[in-house]
Order: sequence, then structure tokens, then C-alpha cells
Amino acid sequence: MFIVGGSASKALSAALAAEMGVKLAQIEIRRFPDGDAYVRILDDLQGEDVILVQTTHPDEKLVELFLIQDALREMEVNRIITVVPYYGYARQDRVFQKGEAVSARAMARMIEMQSDTVVLVDVHSTLLLDYFSVPVIHVSSMRAIGEFLKAEGVQMVIAPDKGAVERARIAADVVGCQWDHLEKVRIDGSNVRIAPKNLDVNGMKVAIVDDIISTGGTIATAAEQLKSQGAASVIAVCTHGLFSGNAMERLRVCDAVYACDTLESKRSAISVAPAIKEELTAFLSRLSA
Ligand code: R5P
Repeated sequence: MFIVGGSASKALSAALAAEMGVKLAQIEIRRFPDGDAYVRILDDLQGEDVILVQTTHPDEKLVELFLIQDALREMEVNRIITVVPYYGYARQDRVFQKGEAVSARAMARMIEMQSDTVVLVDVHSTLLLDYFSVPVIHVSSMRAIGEFLKAEGVQMVIAPDKGAVERARIAADVVGCQWDHLEKVRIDGSNVRIAPKNLDVNGMKVAIVDDIISTGGTIATAAEQLKSQGAASVIAVCTHGLFSGNAMERLRVCDAVYACDTLESKRSAISVAPAIKEELTAFLSRLSA
């Protein structure tokens, strides 16, 4: 078995290889002058099971994933397990207005064409999982986030909306602290309103946990509210840190901001490699049983 990492997931593929005790294959990825990608796998992987790790954001990383899959098939590998740590286009998971593309489904159809199994991490909506016809393993980063928050000495975990409360609960269980949620209403793409809610956070170190930070609007608004209620410090933690536009500026209201390594940046302090390893190992042992 080998792990192959795309350029969007270099650190995570190396971490997963180390976690699993599996070799990381050598790969050459470069761009032609016009921007087209060139991909070549340098190790001979014929007949091997391969775990391919590549986040599919931005678009060029998606194309790169397809080229790596093609190179693996060309090399006649045995099985391709495609790990997509952050799945771009997941948010449009149904038709809201007639005529729209269901981008989450469109991506699923293309990704699974050259995959025997797909591994996803904290997808925004589990509806997406139904768009795959190959087996899908859905990994949660929340225990890893919980361990991180425990080491940080967090005393309360808050979800910015009801949809995220189960994630906050899992993290809080690991920390051994209370959790709660706020009531978020989206105003537009980058602004939200959070209904006032009295929480007993006075003097506490509080963490806001969400699946995605994009514009930072959700977390910034929630953090402002928690601070106005007397929280001593507010740290923001998410699985997928997109940090679009001026997100980091908006997030200055937080005392610290951390993300997992599904999207690699200097904020990626928490690795999902152990969680992926755990799920993959269980899956592979069921296959060989
Ligand atoms: C939405 O329901 C998600 O869970 C996140 O809360 C959202 O994607 C965050 O986006 P932003 O950072 O732009 O507020």
C-alpha cells in the first residue's frame, strides 16, 4: 500500500503516511506555461492499493486530483481510495431554484469515476454522501478538535447555530465541559445575525466550533456576542479554514483562530490524520475479514 499526496494536501498526506506506517509515493506536479497541470507518479505502484489524498479546492486542485487518478489507473494500481479532506462545492447540495446545478453531486460523480472508495472529512451536509455510488467513509475531526481544546484549557464549547451543535457536543465531551449553541440567521453571503441568548460565560475561556470558516462573518459575530456577555477569551476552531477575503481581519475579535489540516495554512494546528487512519484501518480490516 502507498499514499499519494496531491499539492493541496502535502502535509496531511505525509502525516497520514507516518500515522499508518505506509510509504509516501514520489510524485511530480508542475504547471505548463499556460497553467495546465502536469502529473507524474515516480514510484512503480502497479498492483498496489493506493490512498490518494487531495483537497479539491480551489478548482485547479480538483483537476490535479483527476490527473493523479488517471496516472494511477494508467499504472494499473489495484485499488484507489480517494481521500478528499476538504470537498469544494459541497454547499450546493440540492436545487434551490429551478435551473441550478447541484455542484456537490456533480463533483461526486466525477471523483468516484476513478475511485473504489472515497473518504471525506466533516462534510457540511451528509446529503452529499448519498451522491456517491462507491463506498464513502465519513470522518469526523471533532474528537481531534476536542483534544486540542482540552489542552488549551477551554471551559465551554459553543456552536454558532443549531446545525453545528452535535459537533460542539462531541468536542465538549472530549474536553469534559459544557456546550451550547447560538441562533444564527444568514443575512447575505458574508454577514449573519446572531439572536441574543444569555449564556453563563462570564470569566470563561470559550471556544466557538464550526465546520467551515469562510468569510469569518459567523465566528466574528458569535465572538462579539460572547465577549459582550463577559467571556474572558474566545478562541475559534474549525475543521475547514478557507479564510476568504478579509476573514482574518474580521476574526481579530477572537483571541486565537485554529483550523484542521484539511486546508493547509498557518492556522492548521490540528491534524485529522489520526482520525482518517482510525476509520481507514477499520474499513480495510472489514474488507479483508
Ligand atoms: C454554515 O452553515 C457553516 O456551518 C458555516 O457556519 C459557514 O460556512 C461559515 O461561513 P462564514 O465564515 O462565511 O460566516
